Amino acid sequence: MQTHEIRKRFLDHFVKAGHTEVPSASVILDDPNLLFVNAGMVQFVPYFLGQRTPPYPRATSVQKCIRTPDIDEVGITTRHNTFFQMAGNFSFGDYFKKGAIELAWSLLTNSVDDGGYGFDPEKLWATVYLDDDEAIEIWQQVAGLPLERIQRRGMADNYWSMGIPGPCGPCSEIYFDRGPEYGVDGGPEANEDRYIEIWNLVFMQNERGEGTSKDDFEILGPLPRKNIDTGMGVERIACLLQGVDNVYETDLVRPVIDLVAAIAPRGYGEGNHEDDVRYRIIADHSRTAAIIIGDGVTPGNEGRGYVLRRLLRRIIRSAKLLGVDRPIMGELMTTVRDAMGPSYPELVTDFERINRIAVAEETAFNRTLASGSKLFDDAAQSTKASGATVLSGSDAFTLHDTYGFPIDLTLEMAAEAGLSVDEEGFRGLMAEQRRRAKADAAARKQAHTDLSAYRELVDAGPTEFTGFDELTTEARILGIFVDGKRVPVVSHGQAGDSGTVPDRVELILDRTPFYAESGGQIADEGTVTGTGASATAKAAVNDVQKIAKTLWAHRITVESGEFVEGDTVVAAVDPNWRHGATQGHSGTHMVHAALRQVLGPNAVQAGSLNRPGYLRFDFNWQGALSEDQRRDIEVVANEAVIAAFEVNTFNTSLDQAKAMGAMALFGEAYPDEVRVVEIGGPFSLELCGGTHVQNSAQIGPVTVLGESSVGSGVRRVEAYVGLDSFKHLAKERALLAGLASSLKVPSDEVPARVENLVDRLRAAEKELDRLRLAGARAAAANAAAGAEEIGGVRLVAQRMAGGISAGDLRSLVGDVRGKLGSDPAVVALIAEGDDDSVPFVVAVNQAAQDRGLRANDLVKVLGAAVNGRGGGKADLAQGSGKGAAGIDAALAAIRAEMGRS
Ligand code: SER
Repeated sequence: MQTHEIRKRFLDHFVKAGHTEVPSASVILDDPNLLFVNAGMVQFVPYFLGQRTPPYPRATSVQKCIRTPDIDEVGITTRHNTFFQMAGNFSFGDYFKKGAIELAWSLLTNSVDDGGYGFDPEKLWATVYLDDDEAIEIWQQVAGLPLERIQRRGMADNYWSMGIPGPCGPCSEIYFDRGPEYGVDGGPEANEDRYIEIWNLVFMQNERGEGTSKDDFEILGPLPRKNIDTGMGVERIACLLQGVDNVYETDLVRPVIDLVAAIAPRGYGEGNHEDDVRYRIIADHSRTAAIIIGDGVTPGNEGRGYVLRRLLRRIIRSAKLLGVDRPIMGELMTTVRDAMGPSYPELVTDFERINRIAVAEETAFNRTLASGSKLFDDAAQSTKASGATVLSGSDAFTLHDTYGFPIDLTLEMAAEAGLSVDEEGFRGLMAEQRRRAKADAAARKQAHTDLSAYRELVDAGPTEFTGFDELTTEARILGIFVDGKRVPVVSHGQAGDSGTVPDRVELILDRTPFYAESGGQIADEGTVTGTGASATAKAAVNDVQKIAKTLWAHRITVESGEFVEGDTVVAAVDPNWRHGATQGHSGTHMVHAALRQVLGPNAVQAGSLNRPGYLRFDFNWQGALSEDQRRDIEVVANEAVIAAFEVNTFNTSLDQAKAMGAMALFGEAYPDEVRVVEIGGPFSLELCGGTHVQNSAQIGPVTVLGESSVGSGVRRVEAYVGLDSFKHLAKERALLAGLASSLKVPSDEVPARVENLVDRLRAAEKELDRLRLAGARAAAANAAAGAEEIGGVRLVAQRMAGGISAGDLRSLVGDVRGKLGSDPAVVALIAEGDDDSVPFVVAVNQAAQDRGLRANDLVKVLGAAVNGRGGGKADLAQGSGKGAAGIDAALAAIRAEMGRS
């Protein structure tokens, strides 16, 4: 039975039993704690936890799942995939254990004609959680399973959670016995390769907290209702129903193996286990990579990007180890698309992008491997030359550290070169490096978070932020810090640690209207002034940073008077500054929304910065934006500005916000209650703590400047907003007007006019070069005629007019030498080049060389006179100096030199 049929039968079975079919969620559901979706239930978590009301009591899905903790098992066991499809049925407070067992059992054992999978009931086993007598009873009743085919297992095997806080519960798993050729008797307890798990029924009834492993976490309490979450491994069912040995040989994965087998010199299933593992790694990882890229991940050095990079590199390396010596990523991706496309149409529609990203990583990694291979060859050669047979640990380490060579690749290449590798030395260096990295990280952490001086204030409580409602606030000084040290008072002109002016003076206030830099918005500027007896105290606020996320440290310059701890002061944000800042930040949301409208949801935010009048926005994207895309983004953003959308901000729960589709940053830890900024309803909805305009029209014009790359797979757009946008446009308009007036054409004819001028200029330059060379040739011909003779050698030593290139000079020298015939002759030409450079060339014919004259000696004489250097061969040499003033002296020096020899 083909995989597509297995999926279809599953969904049909459960739809018939009253379940709503729900499509697979993306593998990167927006949960910062979960790298990838690893089970069908992930998209339903809020329903299980009772945070949201499920729109249906029963659901069924086939979910794309990624599990990479077992990546090293791939290809070695018969059943581990990094990507797999989990078919599931879910009950939200509806049926429970009995319903789940009945529904699973009937699908598995109903005959194929009857819409089932037709498994032999005699070969099925079940496991239950230790004390789950109820489940045992149901298995006996419903399925007629004898007690000897039901095993009790502990928490690690039969108590399911996502591995992070969330819903959990005891489970019951169904296993299929593949027969004694796969291992010993004794049920799943004894051997999980012979008894292969095909379906897990979770009786989801509790909520778990933090923990350290599968069987060590706290149970926080019962869920509001008893639920069912089941997961059937589609690949494993396919493996069994297709009668193949392992999950890599099923109809959707095998084509990749066949493709590689047609390319690689060593085949699949030819008795070499290590080779077979490599084939399976390629097949498994290619699929996973295509799916992950499809859902918007690009290769990178951390998080999901790193997982993807690792998968792609493992593919490339495995192919190399199989002897494939050319790029194959494009063919792999095409094969995955053809096999998986019918179930995952996005692999077809997005193929161009998926393929481009995978191939780009292959190209980059191959380049690295190529430079590493060169290093390897050198190291292998010198090892052999010294009579040794062991490649040093430090060579292996450099290959790993600098070139990304996994040690097994080095081992393999060494073996091919007849060498072994000092693996122990290699491991020692790796351990040393890890130790250093750890120490570095610890040191960095200390440097950055030396908060001990602030501790007392941090403990005393947070600064209250008043800046959403007012720009001027009366506040009390809780503490004063000069260069990180707490002081009771700071006054104008007071010296700091490092000299006359303190590097950093900070005021900690109990309340403040100042926005502290965060979420890409830079801090407000303004003033702090004293009151009462300290009324003369005045400081400019240059920056505001949060300490331990709760205390606002105002970095100030004291302009007059003094500030004393405990004083009451007035903190006032510069209203113009704030107005600009709100334009910048709201403008960022507009550009973000416009970008996603134009580029699609894969343009995921990677960072941003905004300040009055200006913003920049970084996002994940491969390749440059076209001019059309840039313009479209600008148009969409400006249309939304003109629409004069009201800007609403409100607080809500994180789940509610996500349910509304609010955009959040991956990897960011958000509190349970979050602030949402909404501009134009669905147009822009983001989790954001920044300050914003009240109406989008206040942002003013948005001008998207260029777009650029900031590292692999990340692009940046920059834009001006408000008056700065207008000023930018006005400046461009003035520039254009200036051009139009000097070119004496209307402004819309400027481009054509400039193009025409450039063409004419090029033609004129070409003509000029031609004339110059012709003139030089004529001059050279004259020179040949008037050659002087020094000591029986004919000499042409001449200054050429400016503008001649070194290349032309060389060809002229050849011309003149030719004209001088076969008697001993020397030609030395020196030109006044552009920008003060002085190129020179010397040619010496054979007869003169026979007399001991050498061009490479003579250029040195020239060079010495014009602050230059030169070199070449006995017949022709050239060089270049600086300063045309030395030319006459240079020519005289050459005559003198010839007179001497
Ligand atoms: N969540 C369970 C699992 O992943 C059943 O779907 O095994």
